[in-house]
Amino acid sequence: MEKKRIQIFDTTLRDGEQVPGCKLNTKEKVRIAKQLEALGVDVIEAGFPTSSPGDYKSVQEICKSISKPIICALSRAIEKDIEIAGNALKDAKMARIHTGIGTSDCHIRYKFNSTPEKIIEKAKLSVQYAKKFVEDVEFYAEDAGRTNNEFLAKVCETVIKYGATVINIPDTTGYCLPEEYGRKIRFLKENVKGIHKIILSTHCHNDLGLATANSLSGIMNGAQQVECTINGIGERAGNTSLEEIVMIIRQNSHLNLFTNIKTKLISETSYLVSECTGMKVQANKAIVGVNAFSHSSGIHQDGIIKKRETYEIINPEDVGIDQSSIILTARSGRAALAYRYKKLGYSLNKNSLDLVYSIFLSYADRKKEIADKELKIILEKANIKKKRMLHNSGRINVV
Ligand code: KIV
Ligand code: ZN
Repeated sequence: MEKKRIQIFDTTLRDGEQVPGCKLNTKEKVRIAKQLEALGVDVIEAGFPTSSPGDYKSVQEICKSISKPIICALSRAIEKDIEIAGNALKDAKMARIHTGIGTSDCHIRYKFNSTPEKIIEKAKLSVQYAKKFVEDVEFYAEDAGRTNNEFLAKVCETVIKYGATVINIPDTTGYCLPEEYGRKIRFLKENVKGIHKIILSTHCHNDLGLATANSLSGIMNGAQQVECTINGIGERAGNTSLEEIVMIIRQNSHLNLFTNIKTKLISETSYLVSECTGMKVQANKAIVGVNAFSHSSGIHQDGIIKKRETYEIINPEDVGIDQSSIILTARSGRAALAYRYKKLGYSLNKNSLDLVYSIFLSYADRKKEIADKELKIILEKANIKKKRMLHNSGRINVV
């Protein structure tokens, strides 16, 4: 069966940047956009031009600096917003306007004090107007996660009729369960006239930690595009993380899906975004956390030393990390200690290892992690005679 390509729509510079305390200047935004281009994303959502002159300028500069991905700008379903987005995108090789409106009962009633009929009319007019500026118009049905499926289908049918090329189904509040979100996508695929003409997109938030699972469920039920951010940054608990969805697709060939992402650039991209935004990546974050390829318990370390696959399903090199690390703590065993000494050039026999290990444990119980310089001190403490006869390998035998 032929593999289907899933398009990666990166919104680090728009939804990701909406996080409190994470303001990027134009220079940083352009730098990140260039990295996203190298990474191989299909679409870069560069900003929300009407929100500030700075964001307008950033979108303009990104359009001038980027040639491969589509550059997308966000707008509300308001003529002025759409016009500003269209103008900011003028220099893009490929431009997309992303416009839309809230479609859930909650948004219609409380945010707009409106009616479903009026919302459909606004959706239609916004797409019609955006088409005056660009051919590629993406429509978002905000809070689609909590929108009644029949009404959502009507909205989709309307915007397709007026020229939408992509329809985004955001789970804005991170409300859906994976099965429910997948069912919503399937329902639209099966019930909306003209749906085969457009790209259906997922856009999931992580309020219950389900953003990636929901996006996966969306693509398994027919969505062709995933909206995501580097390191999963975004409003509140964040968005679907690009590295997670991309690696899930890569690791599960039975899904018959692929993306154009150059996964070896994932680690450096994550680092750049964290550095520019000041948003630290949690240590245990999947794929890009510092602990994602680190092993500290004795049982795991012993397994990893024997064969990496015993405790790792991803080869760290595939995401741009040289190798897995063995962290020495009080939970480490003799195998890990001997392995680390070997890396430092010392080969310990059984008796020496037993002696060094007991001293190591007393150190490790006091400290979180034992570094190389401490390993050398431990060796001296053990008062082990070093036969400073160098092996051919350059290794020092310790007896
Ligand atoms: O979460 C959301 O609904 C959004 C839209 C503006 C696309 O970010
Ligand atoms: Zn969002």
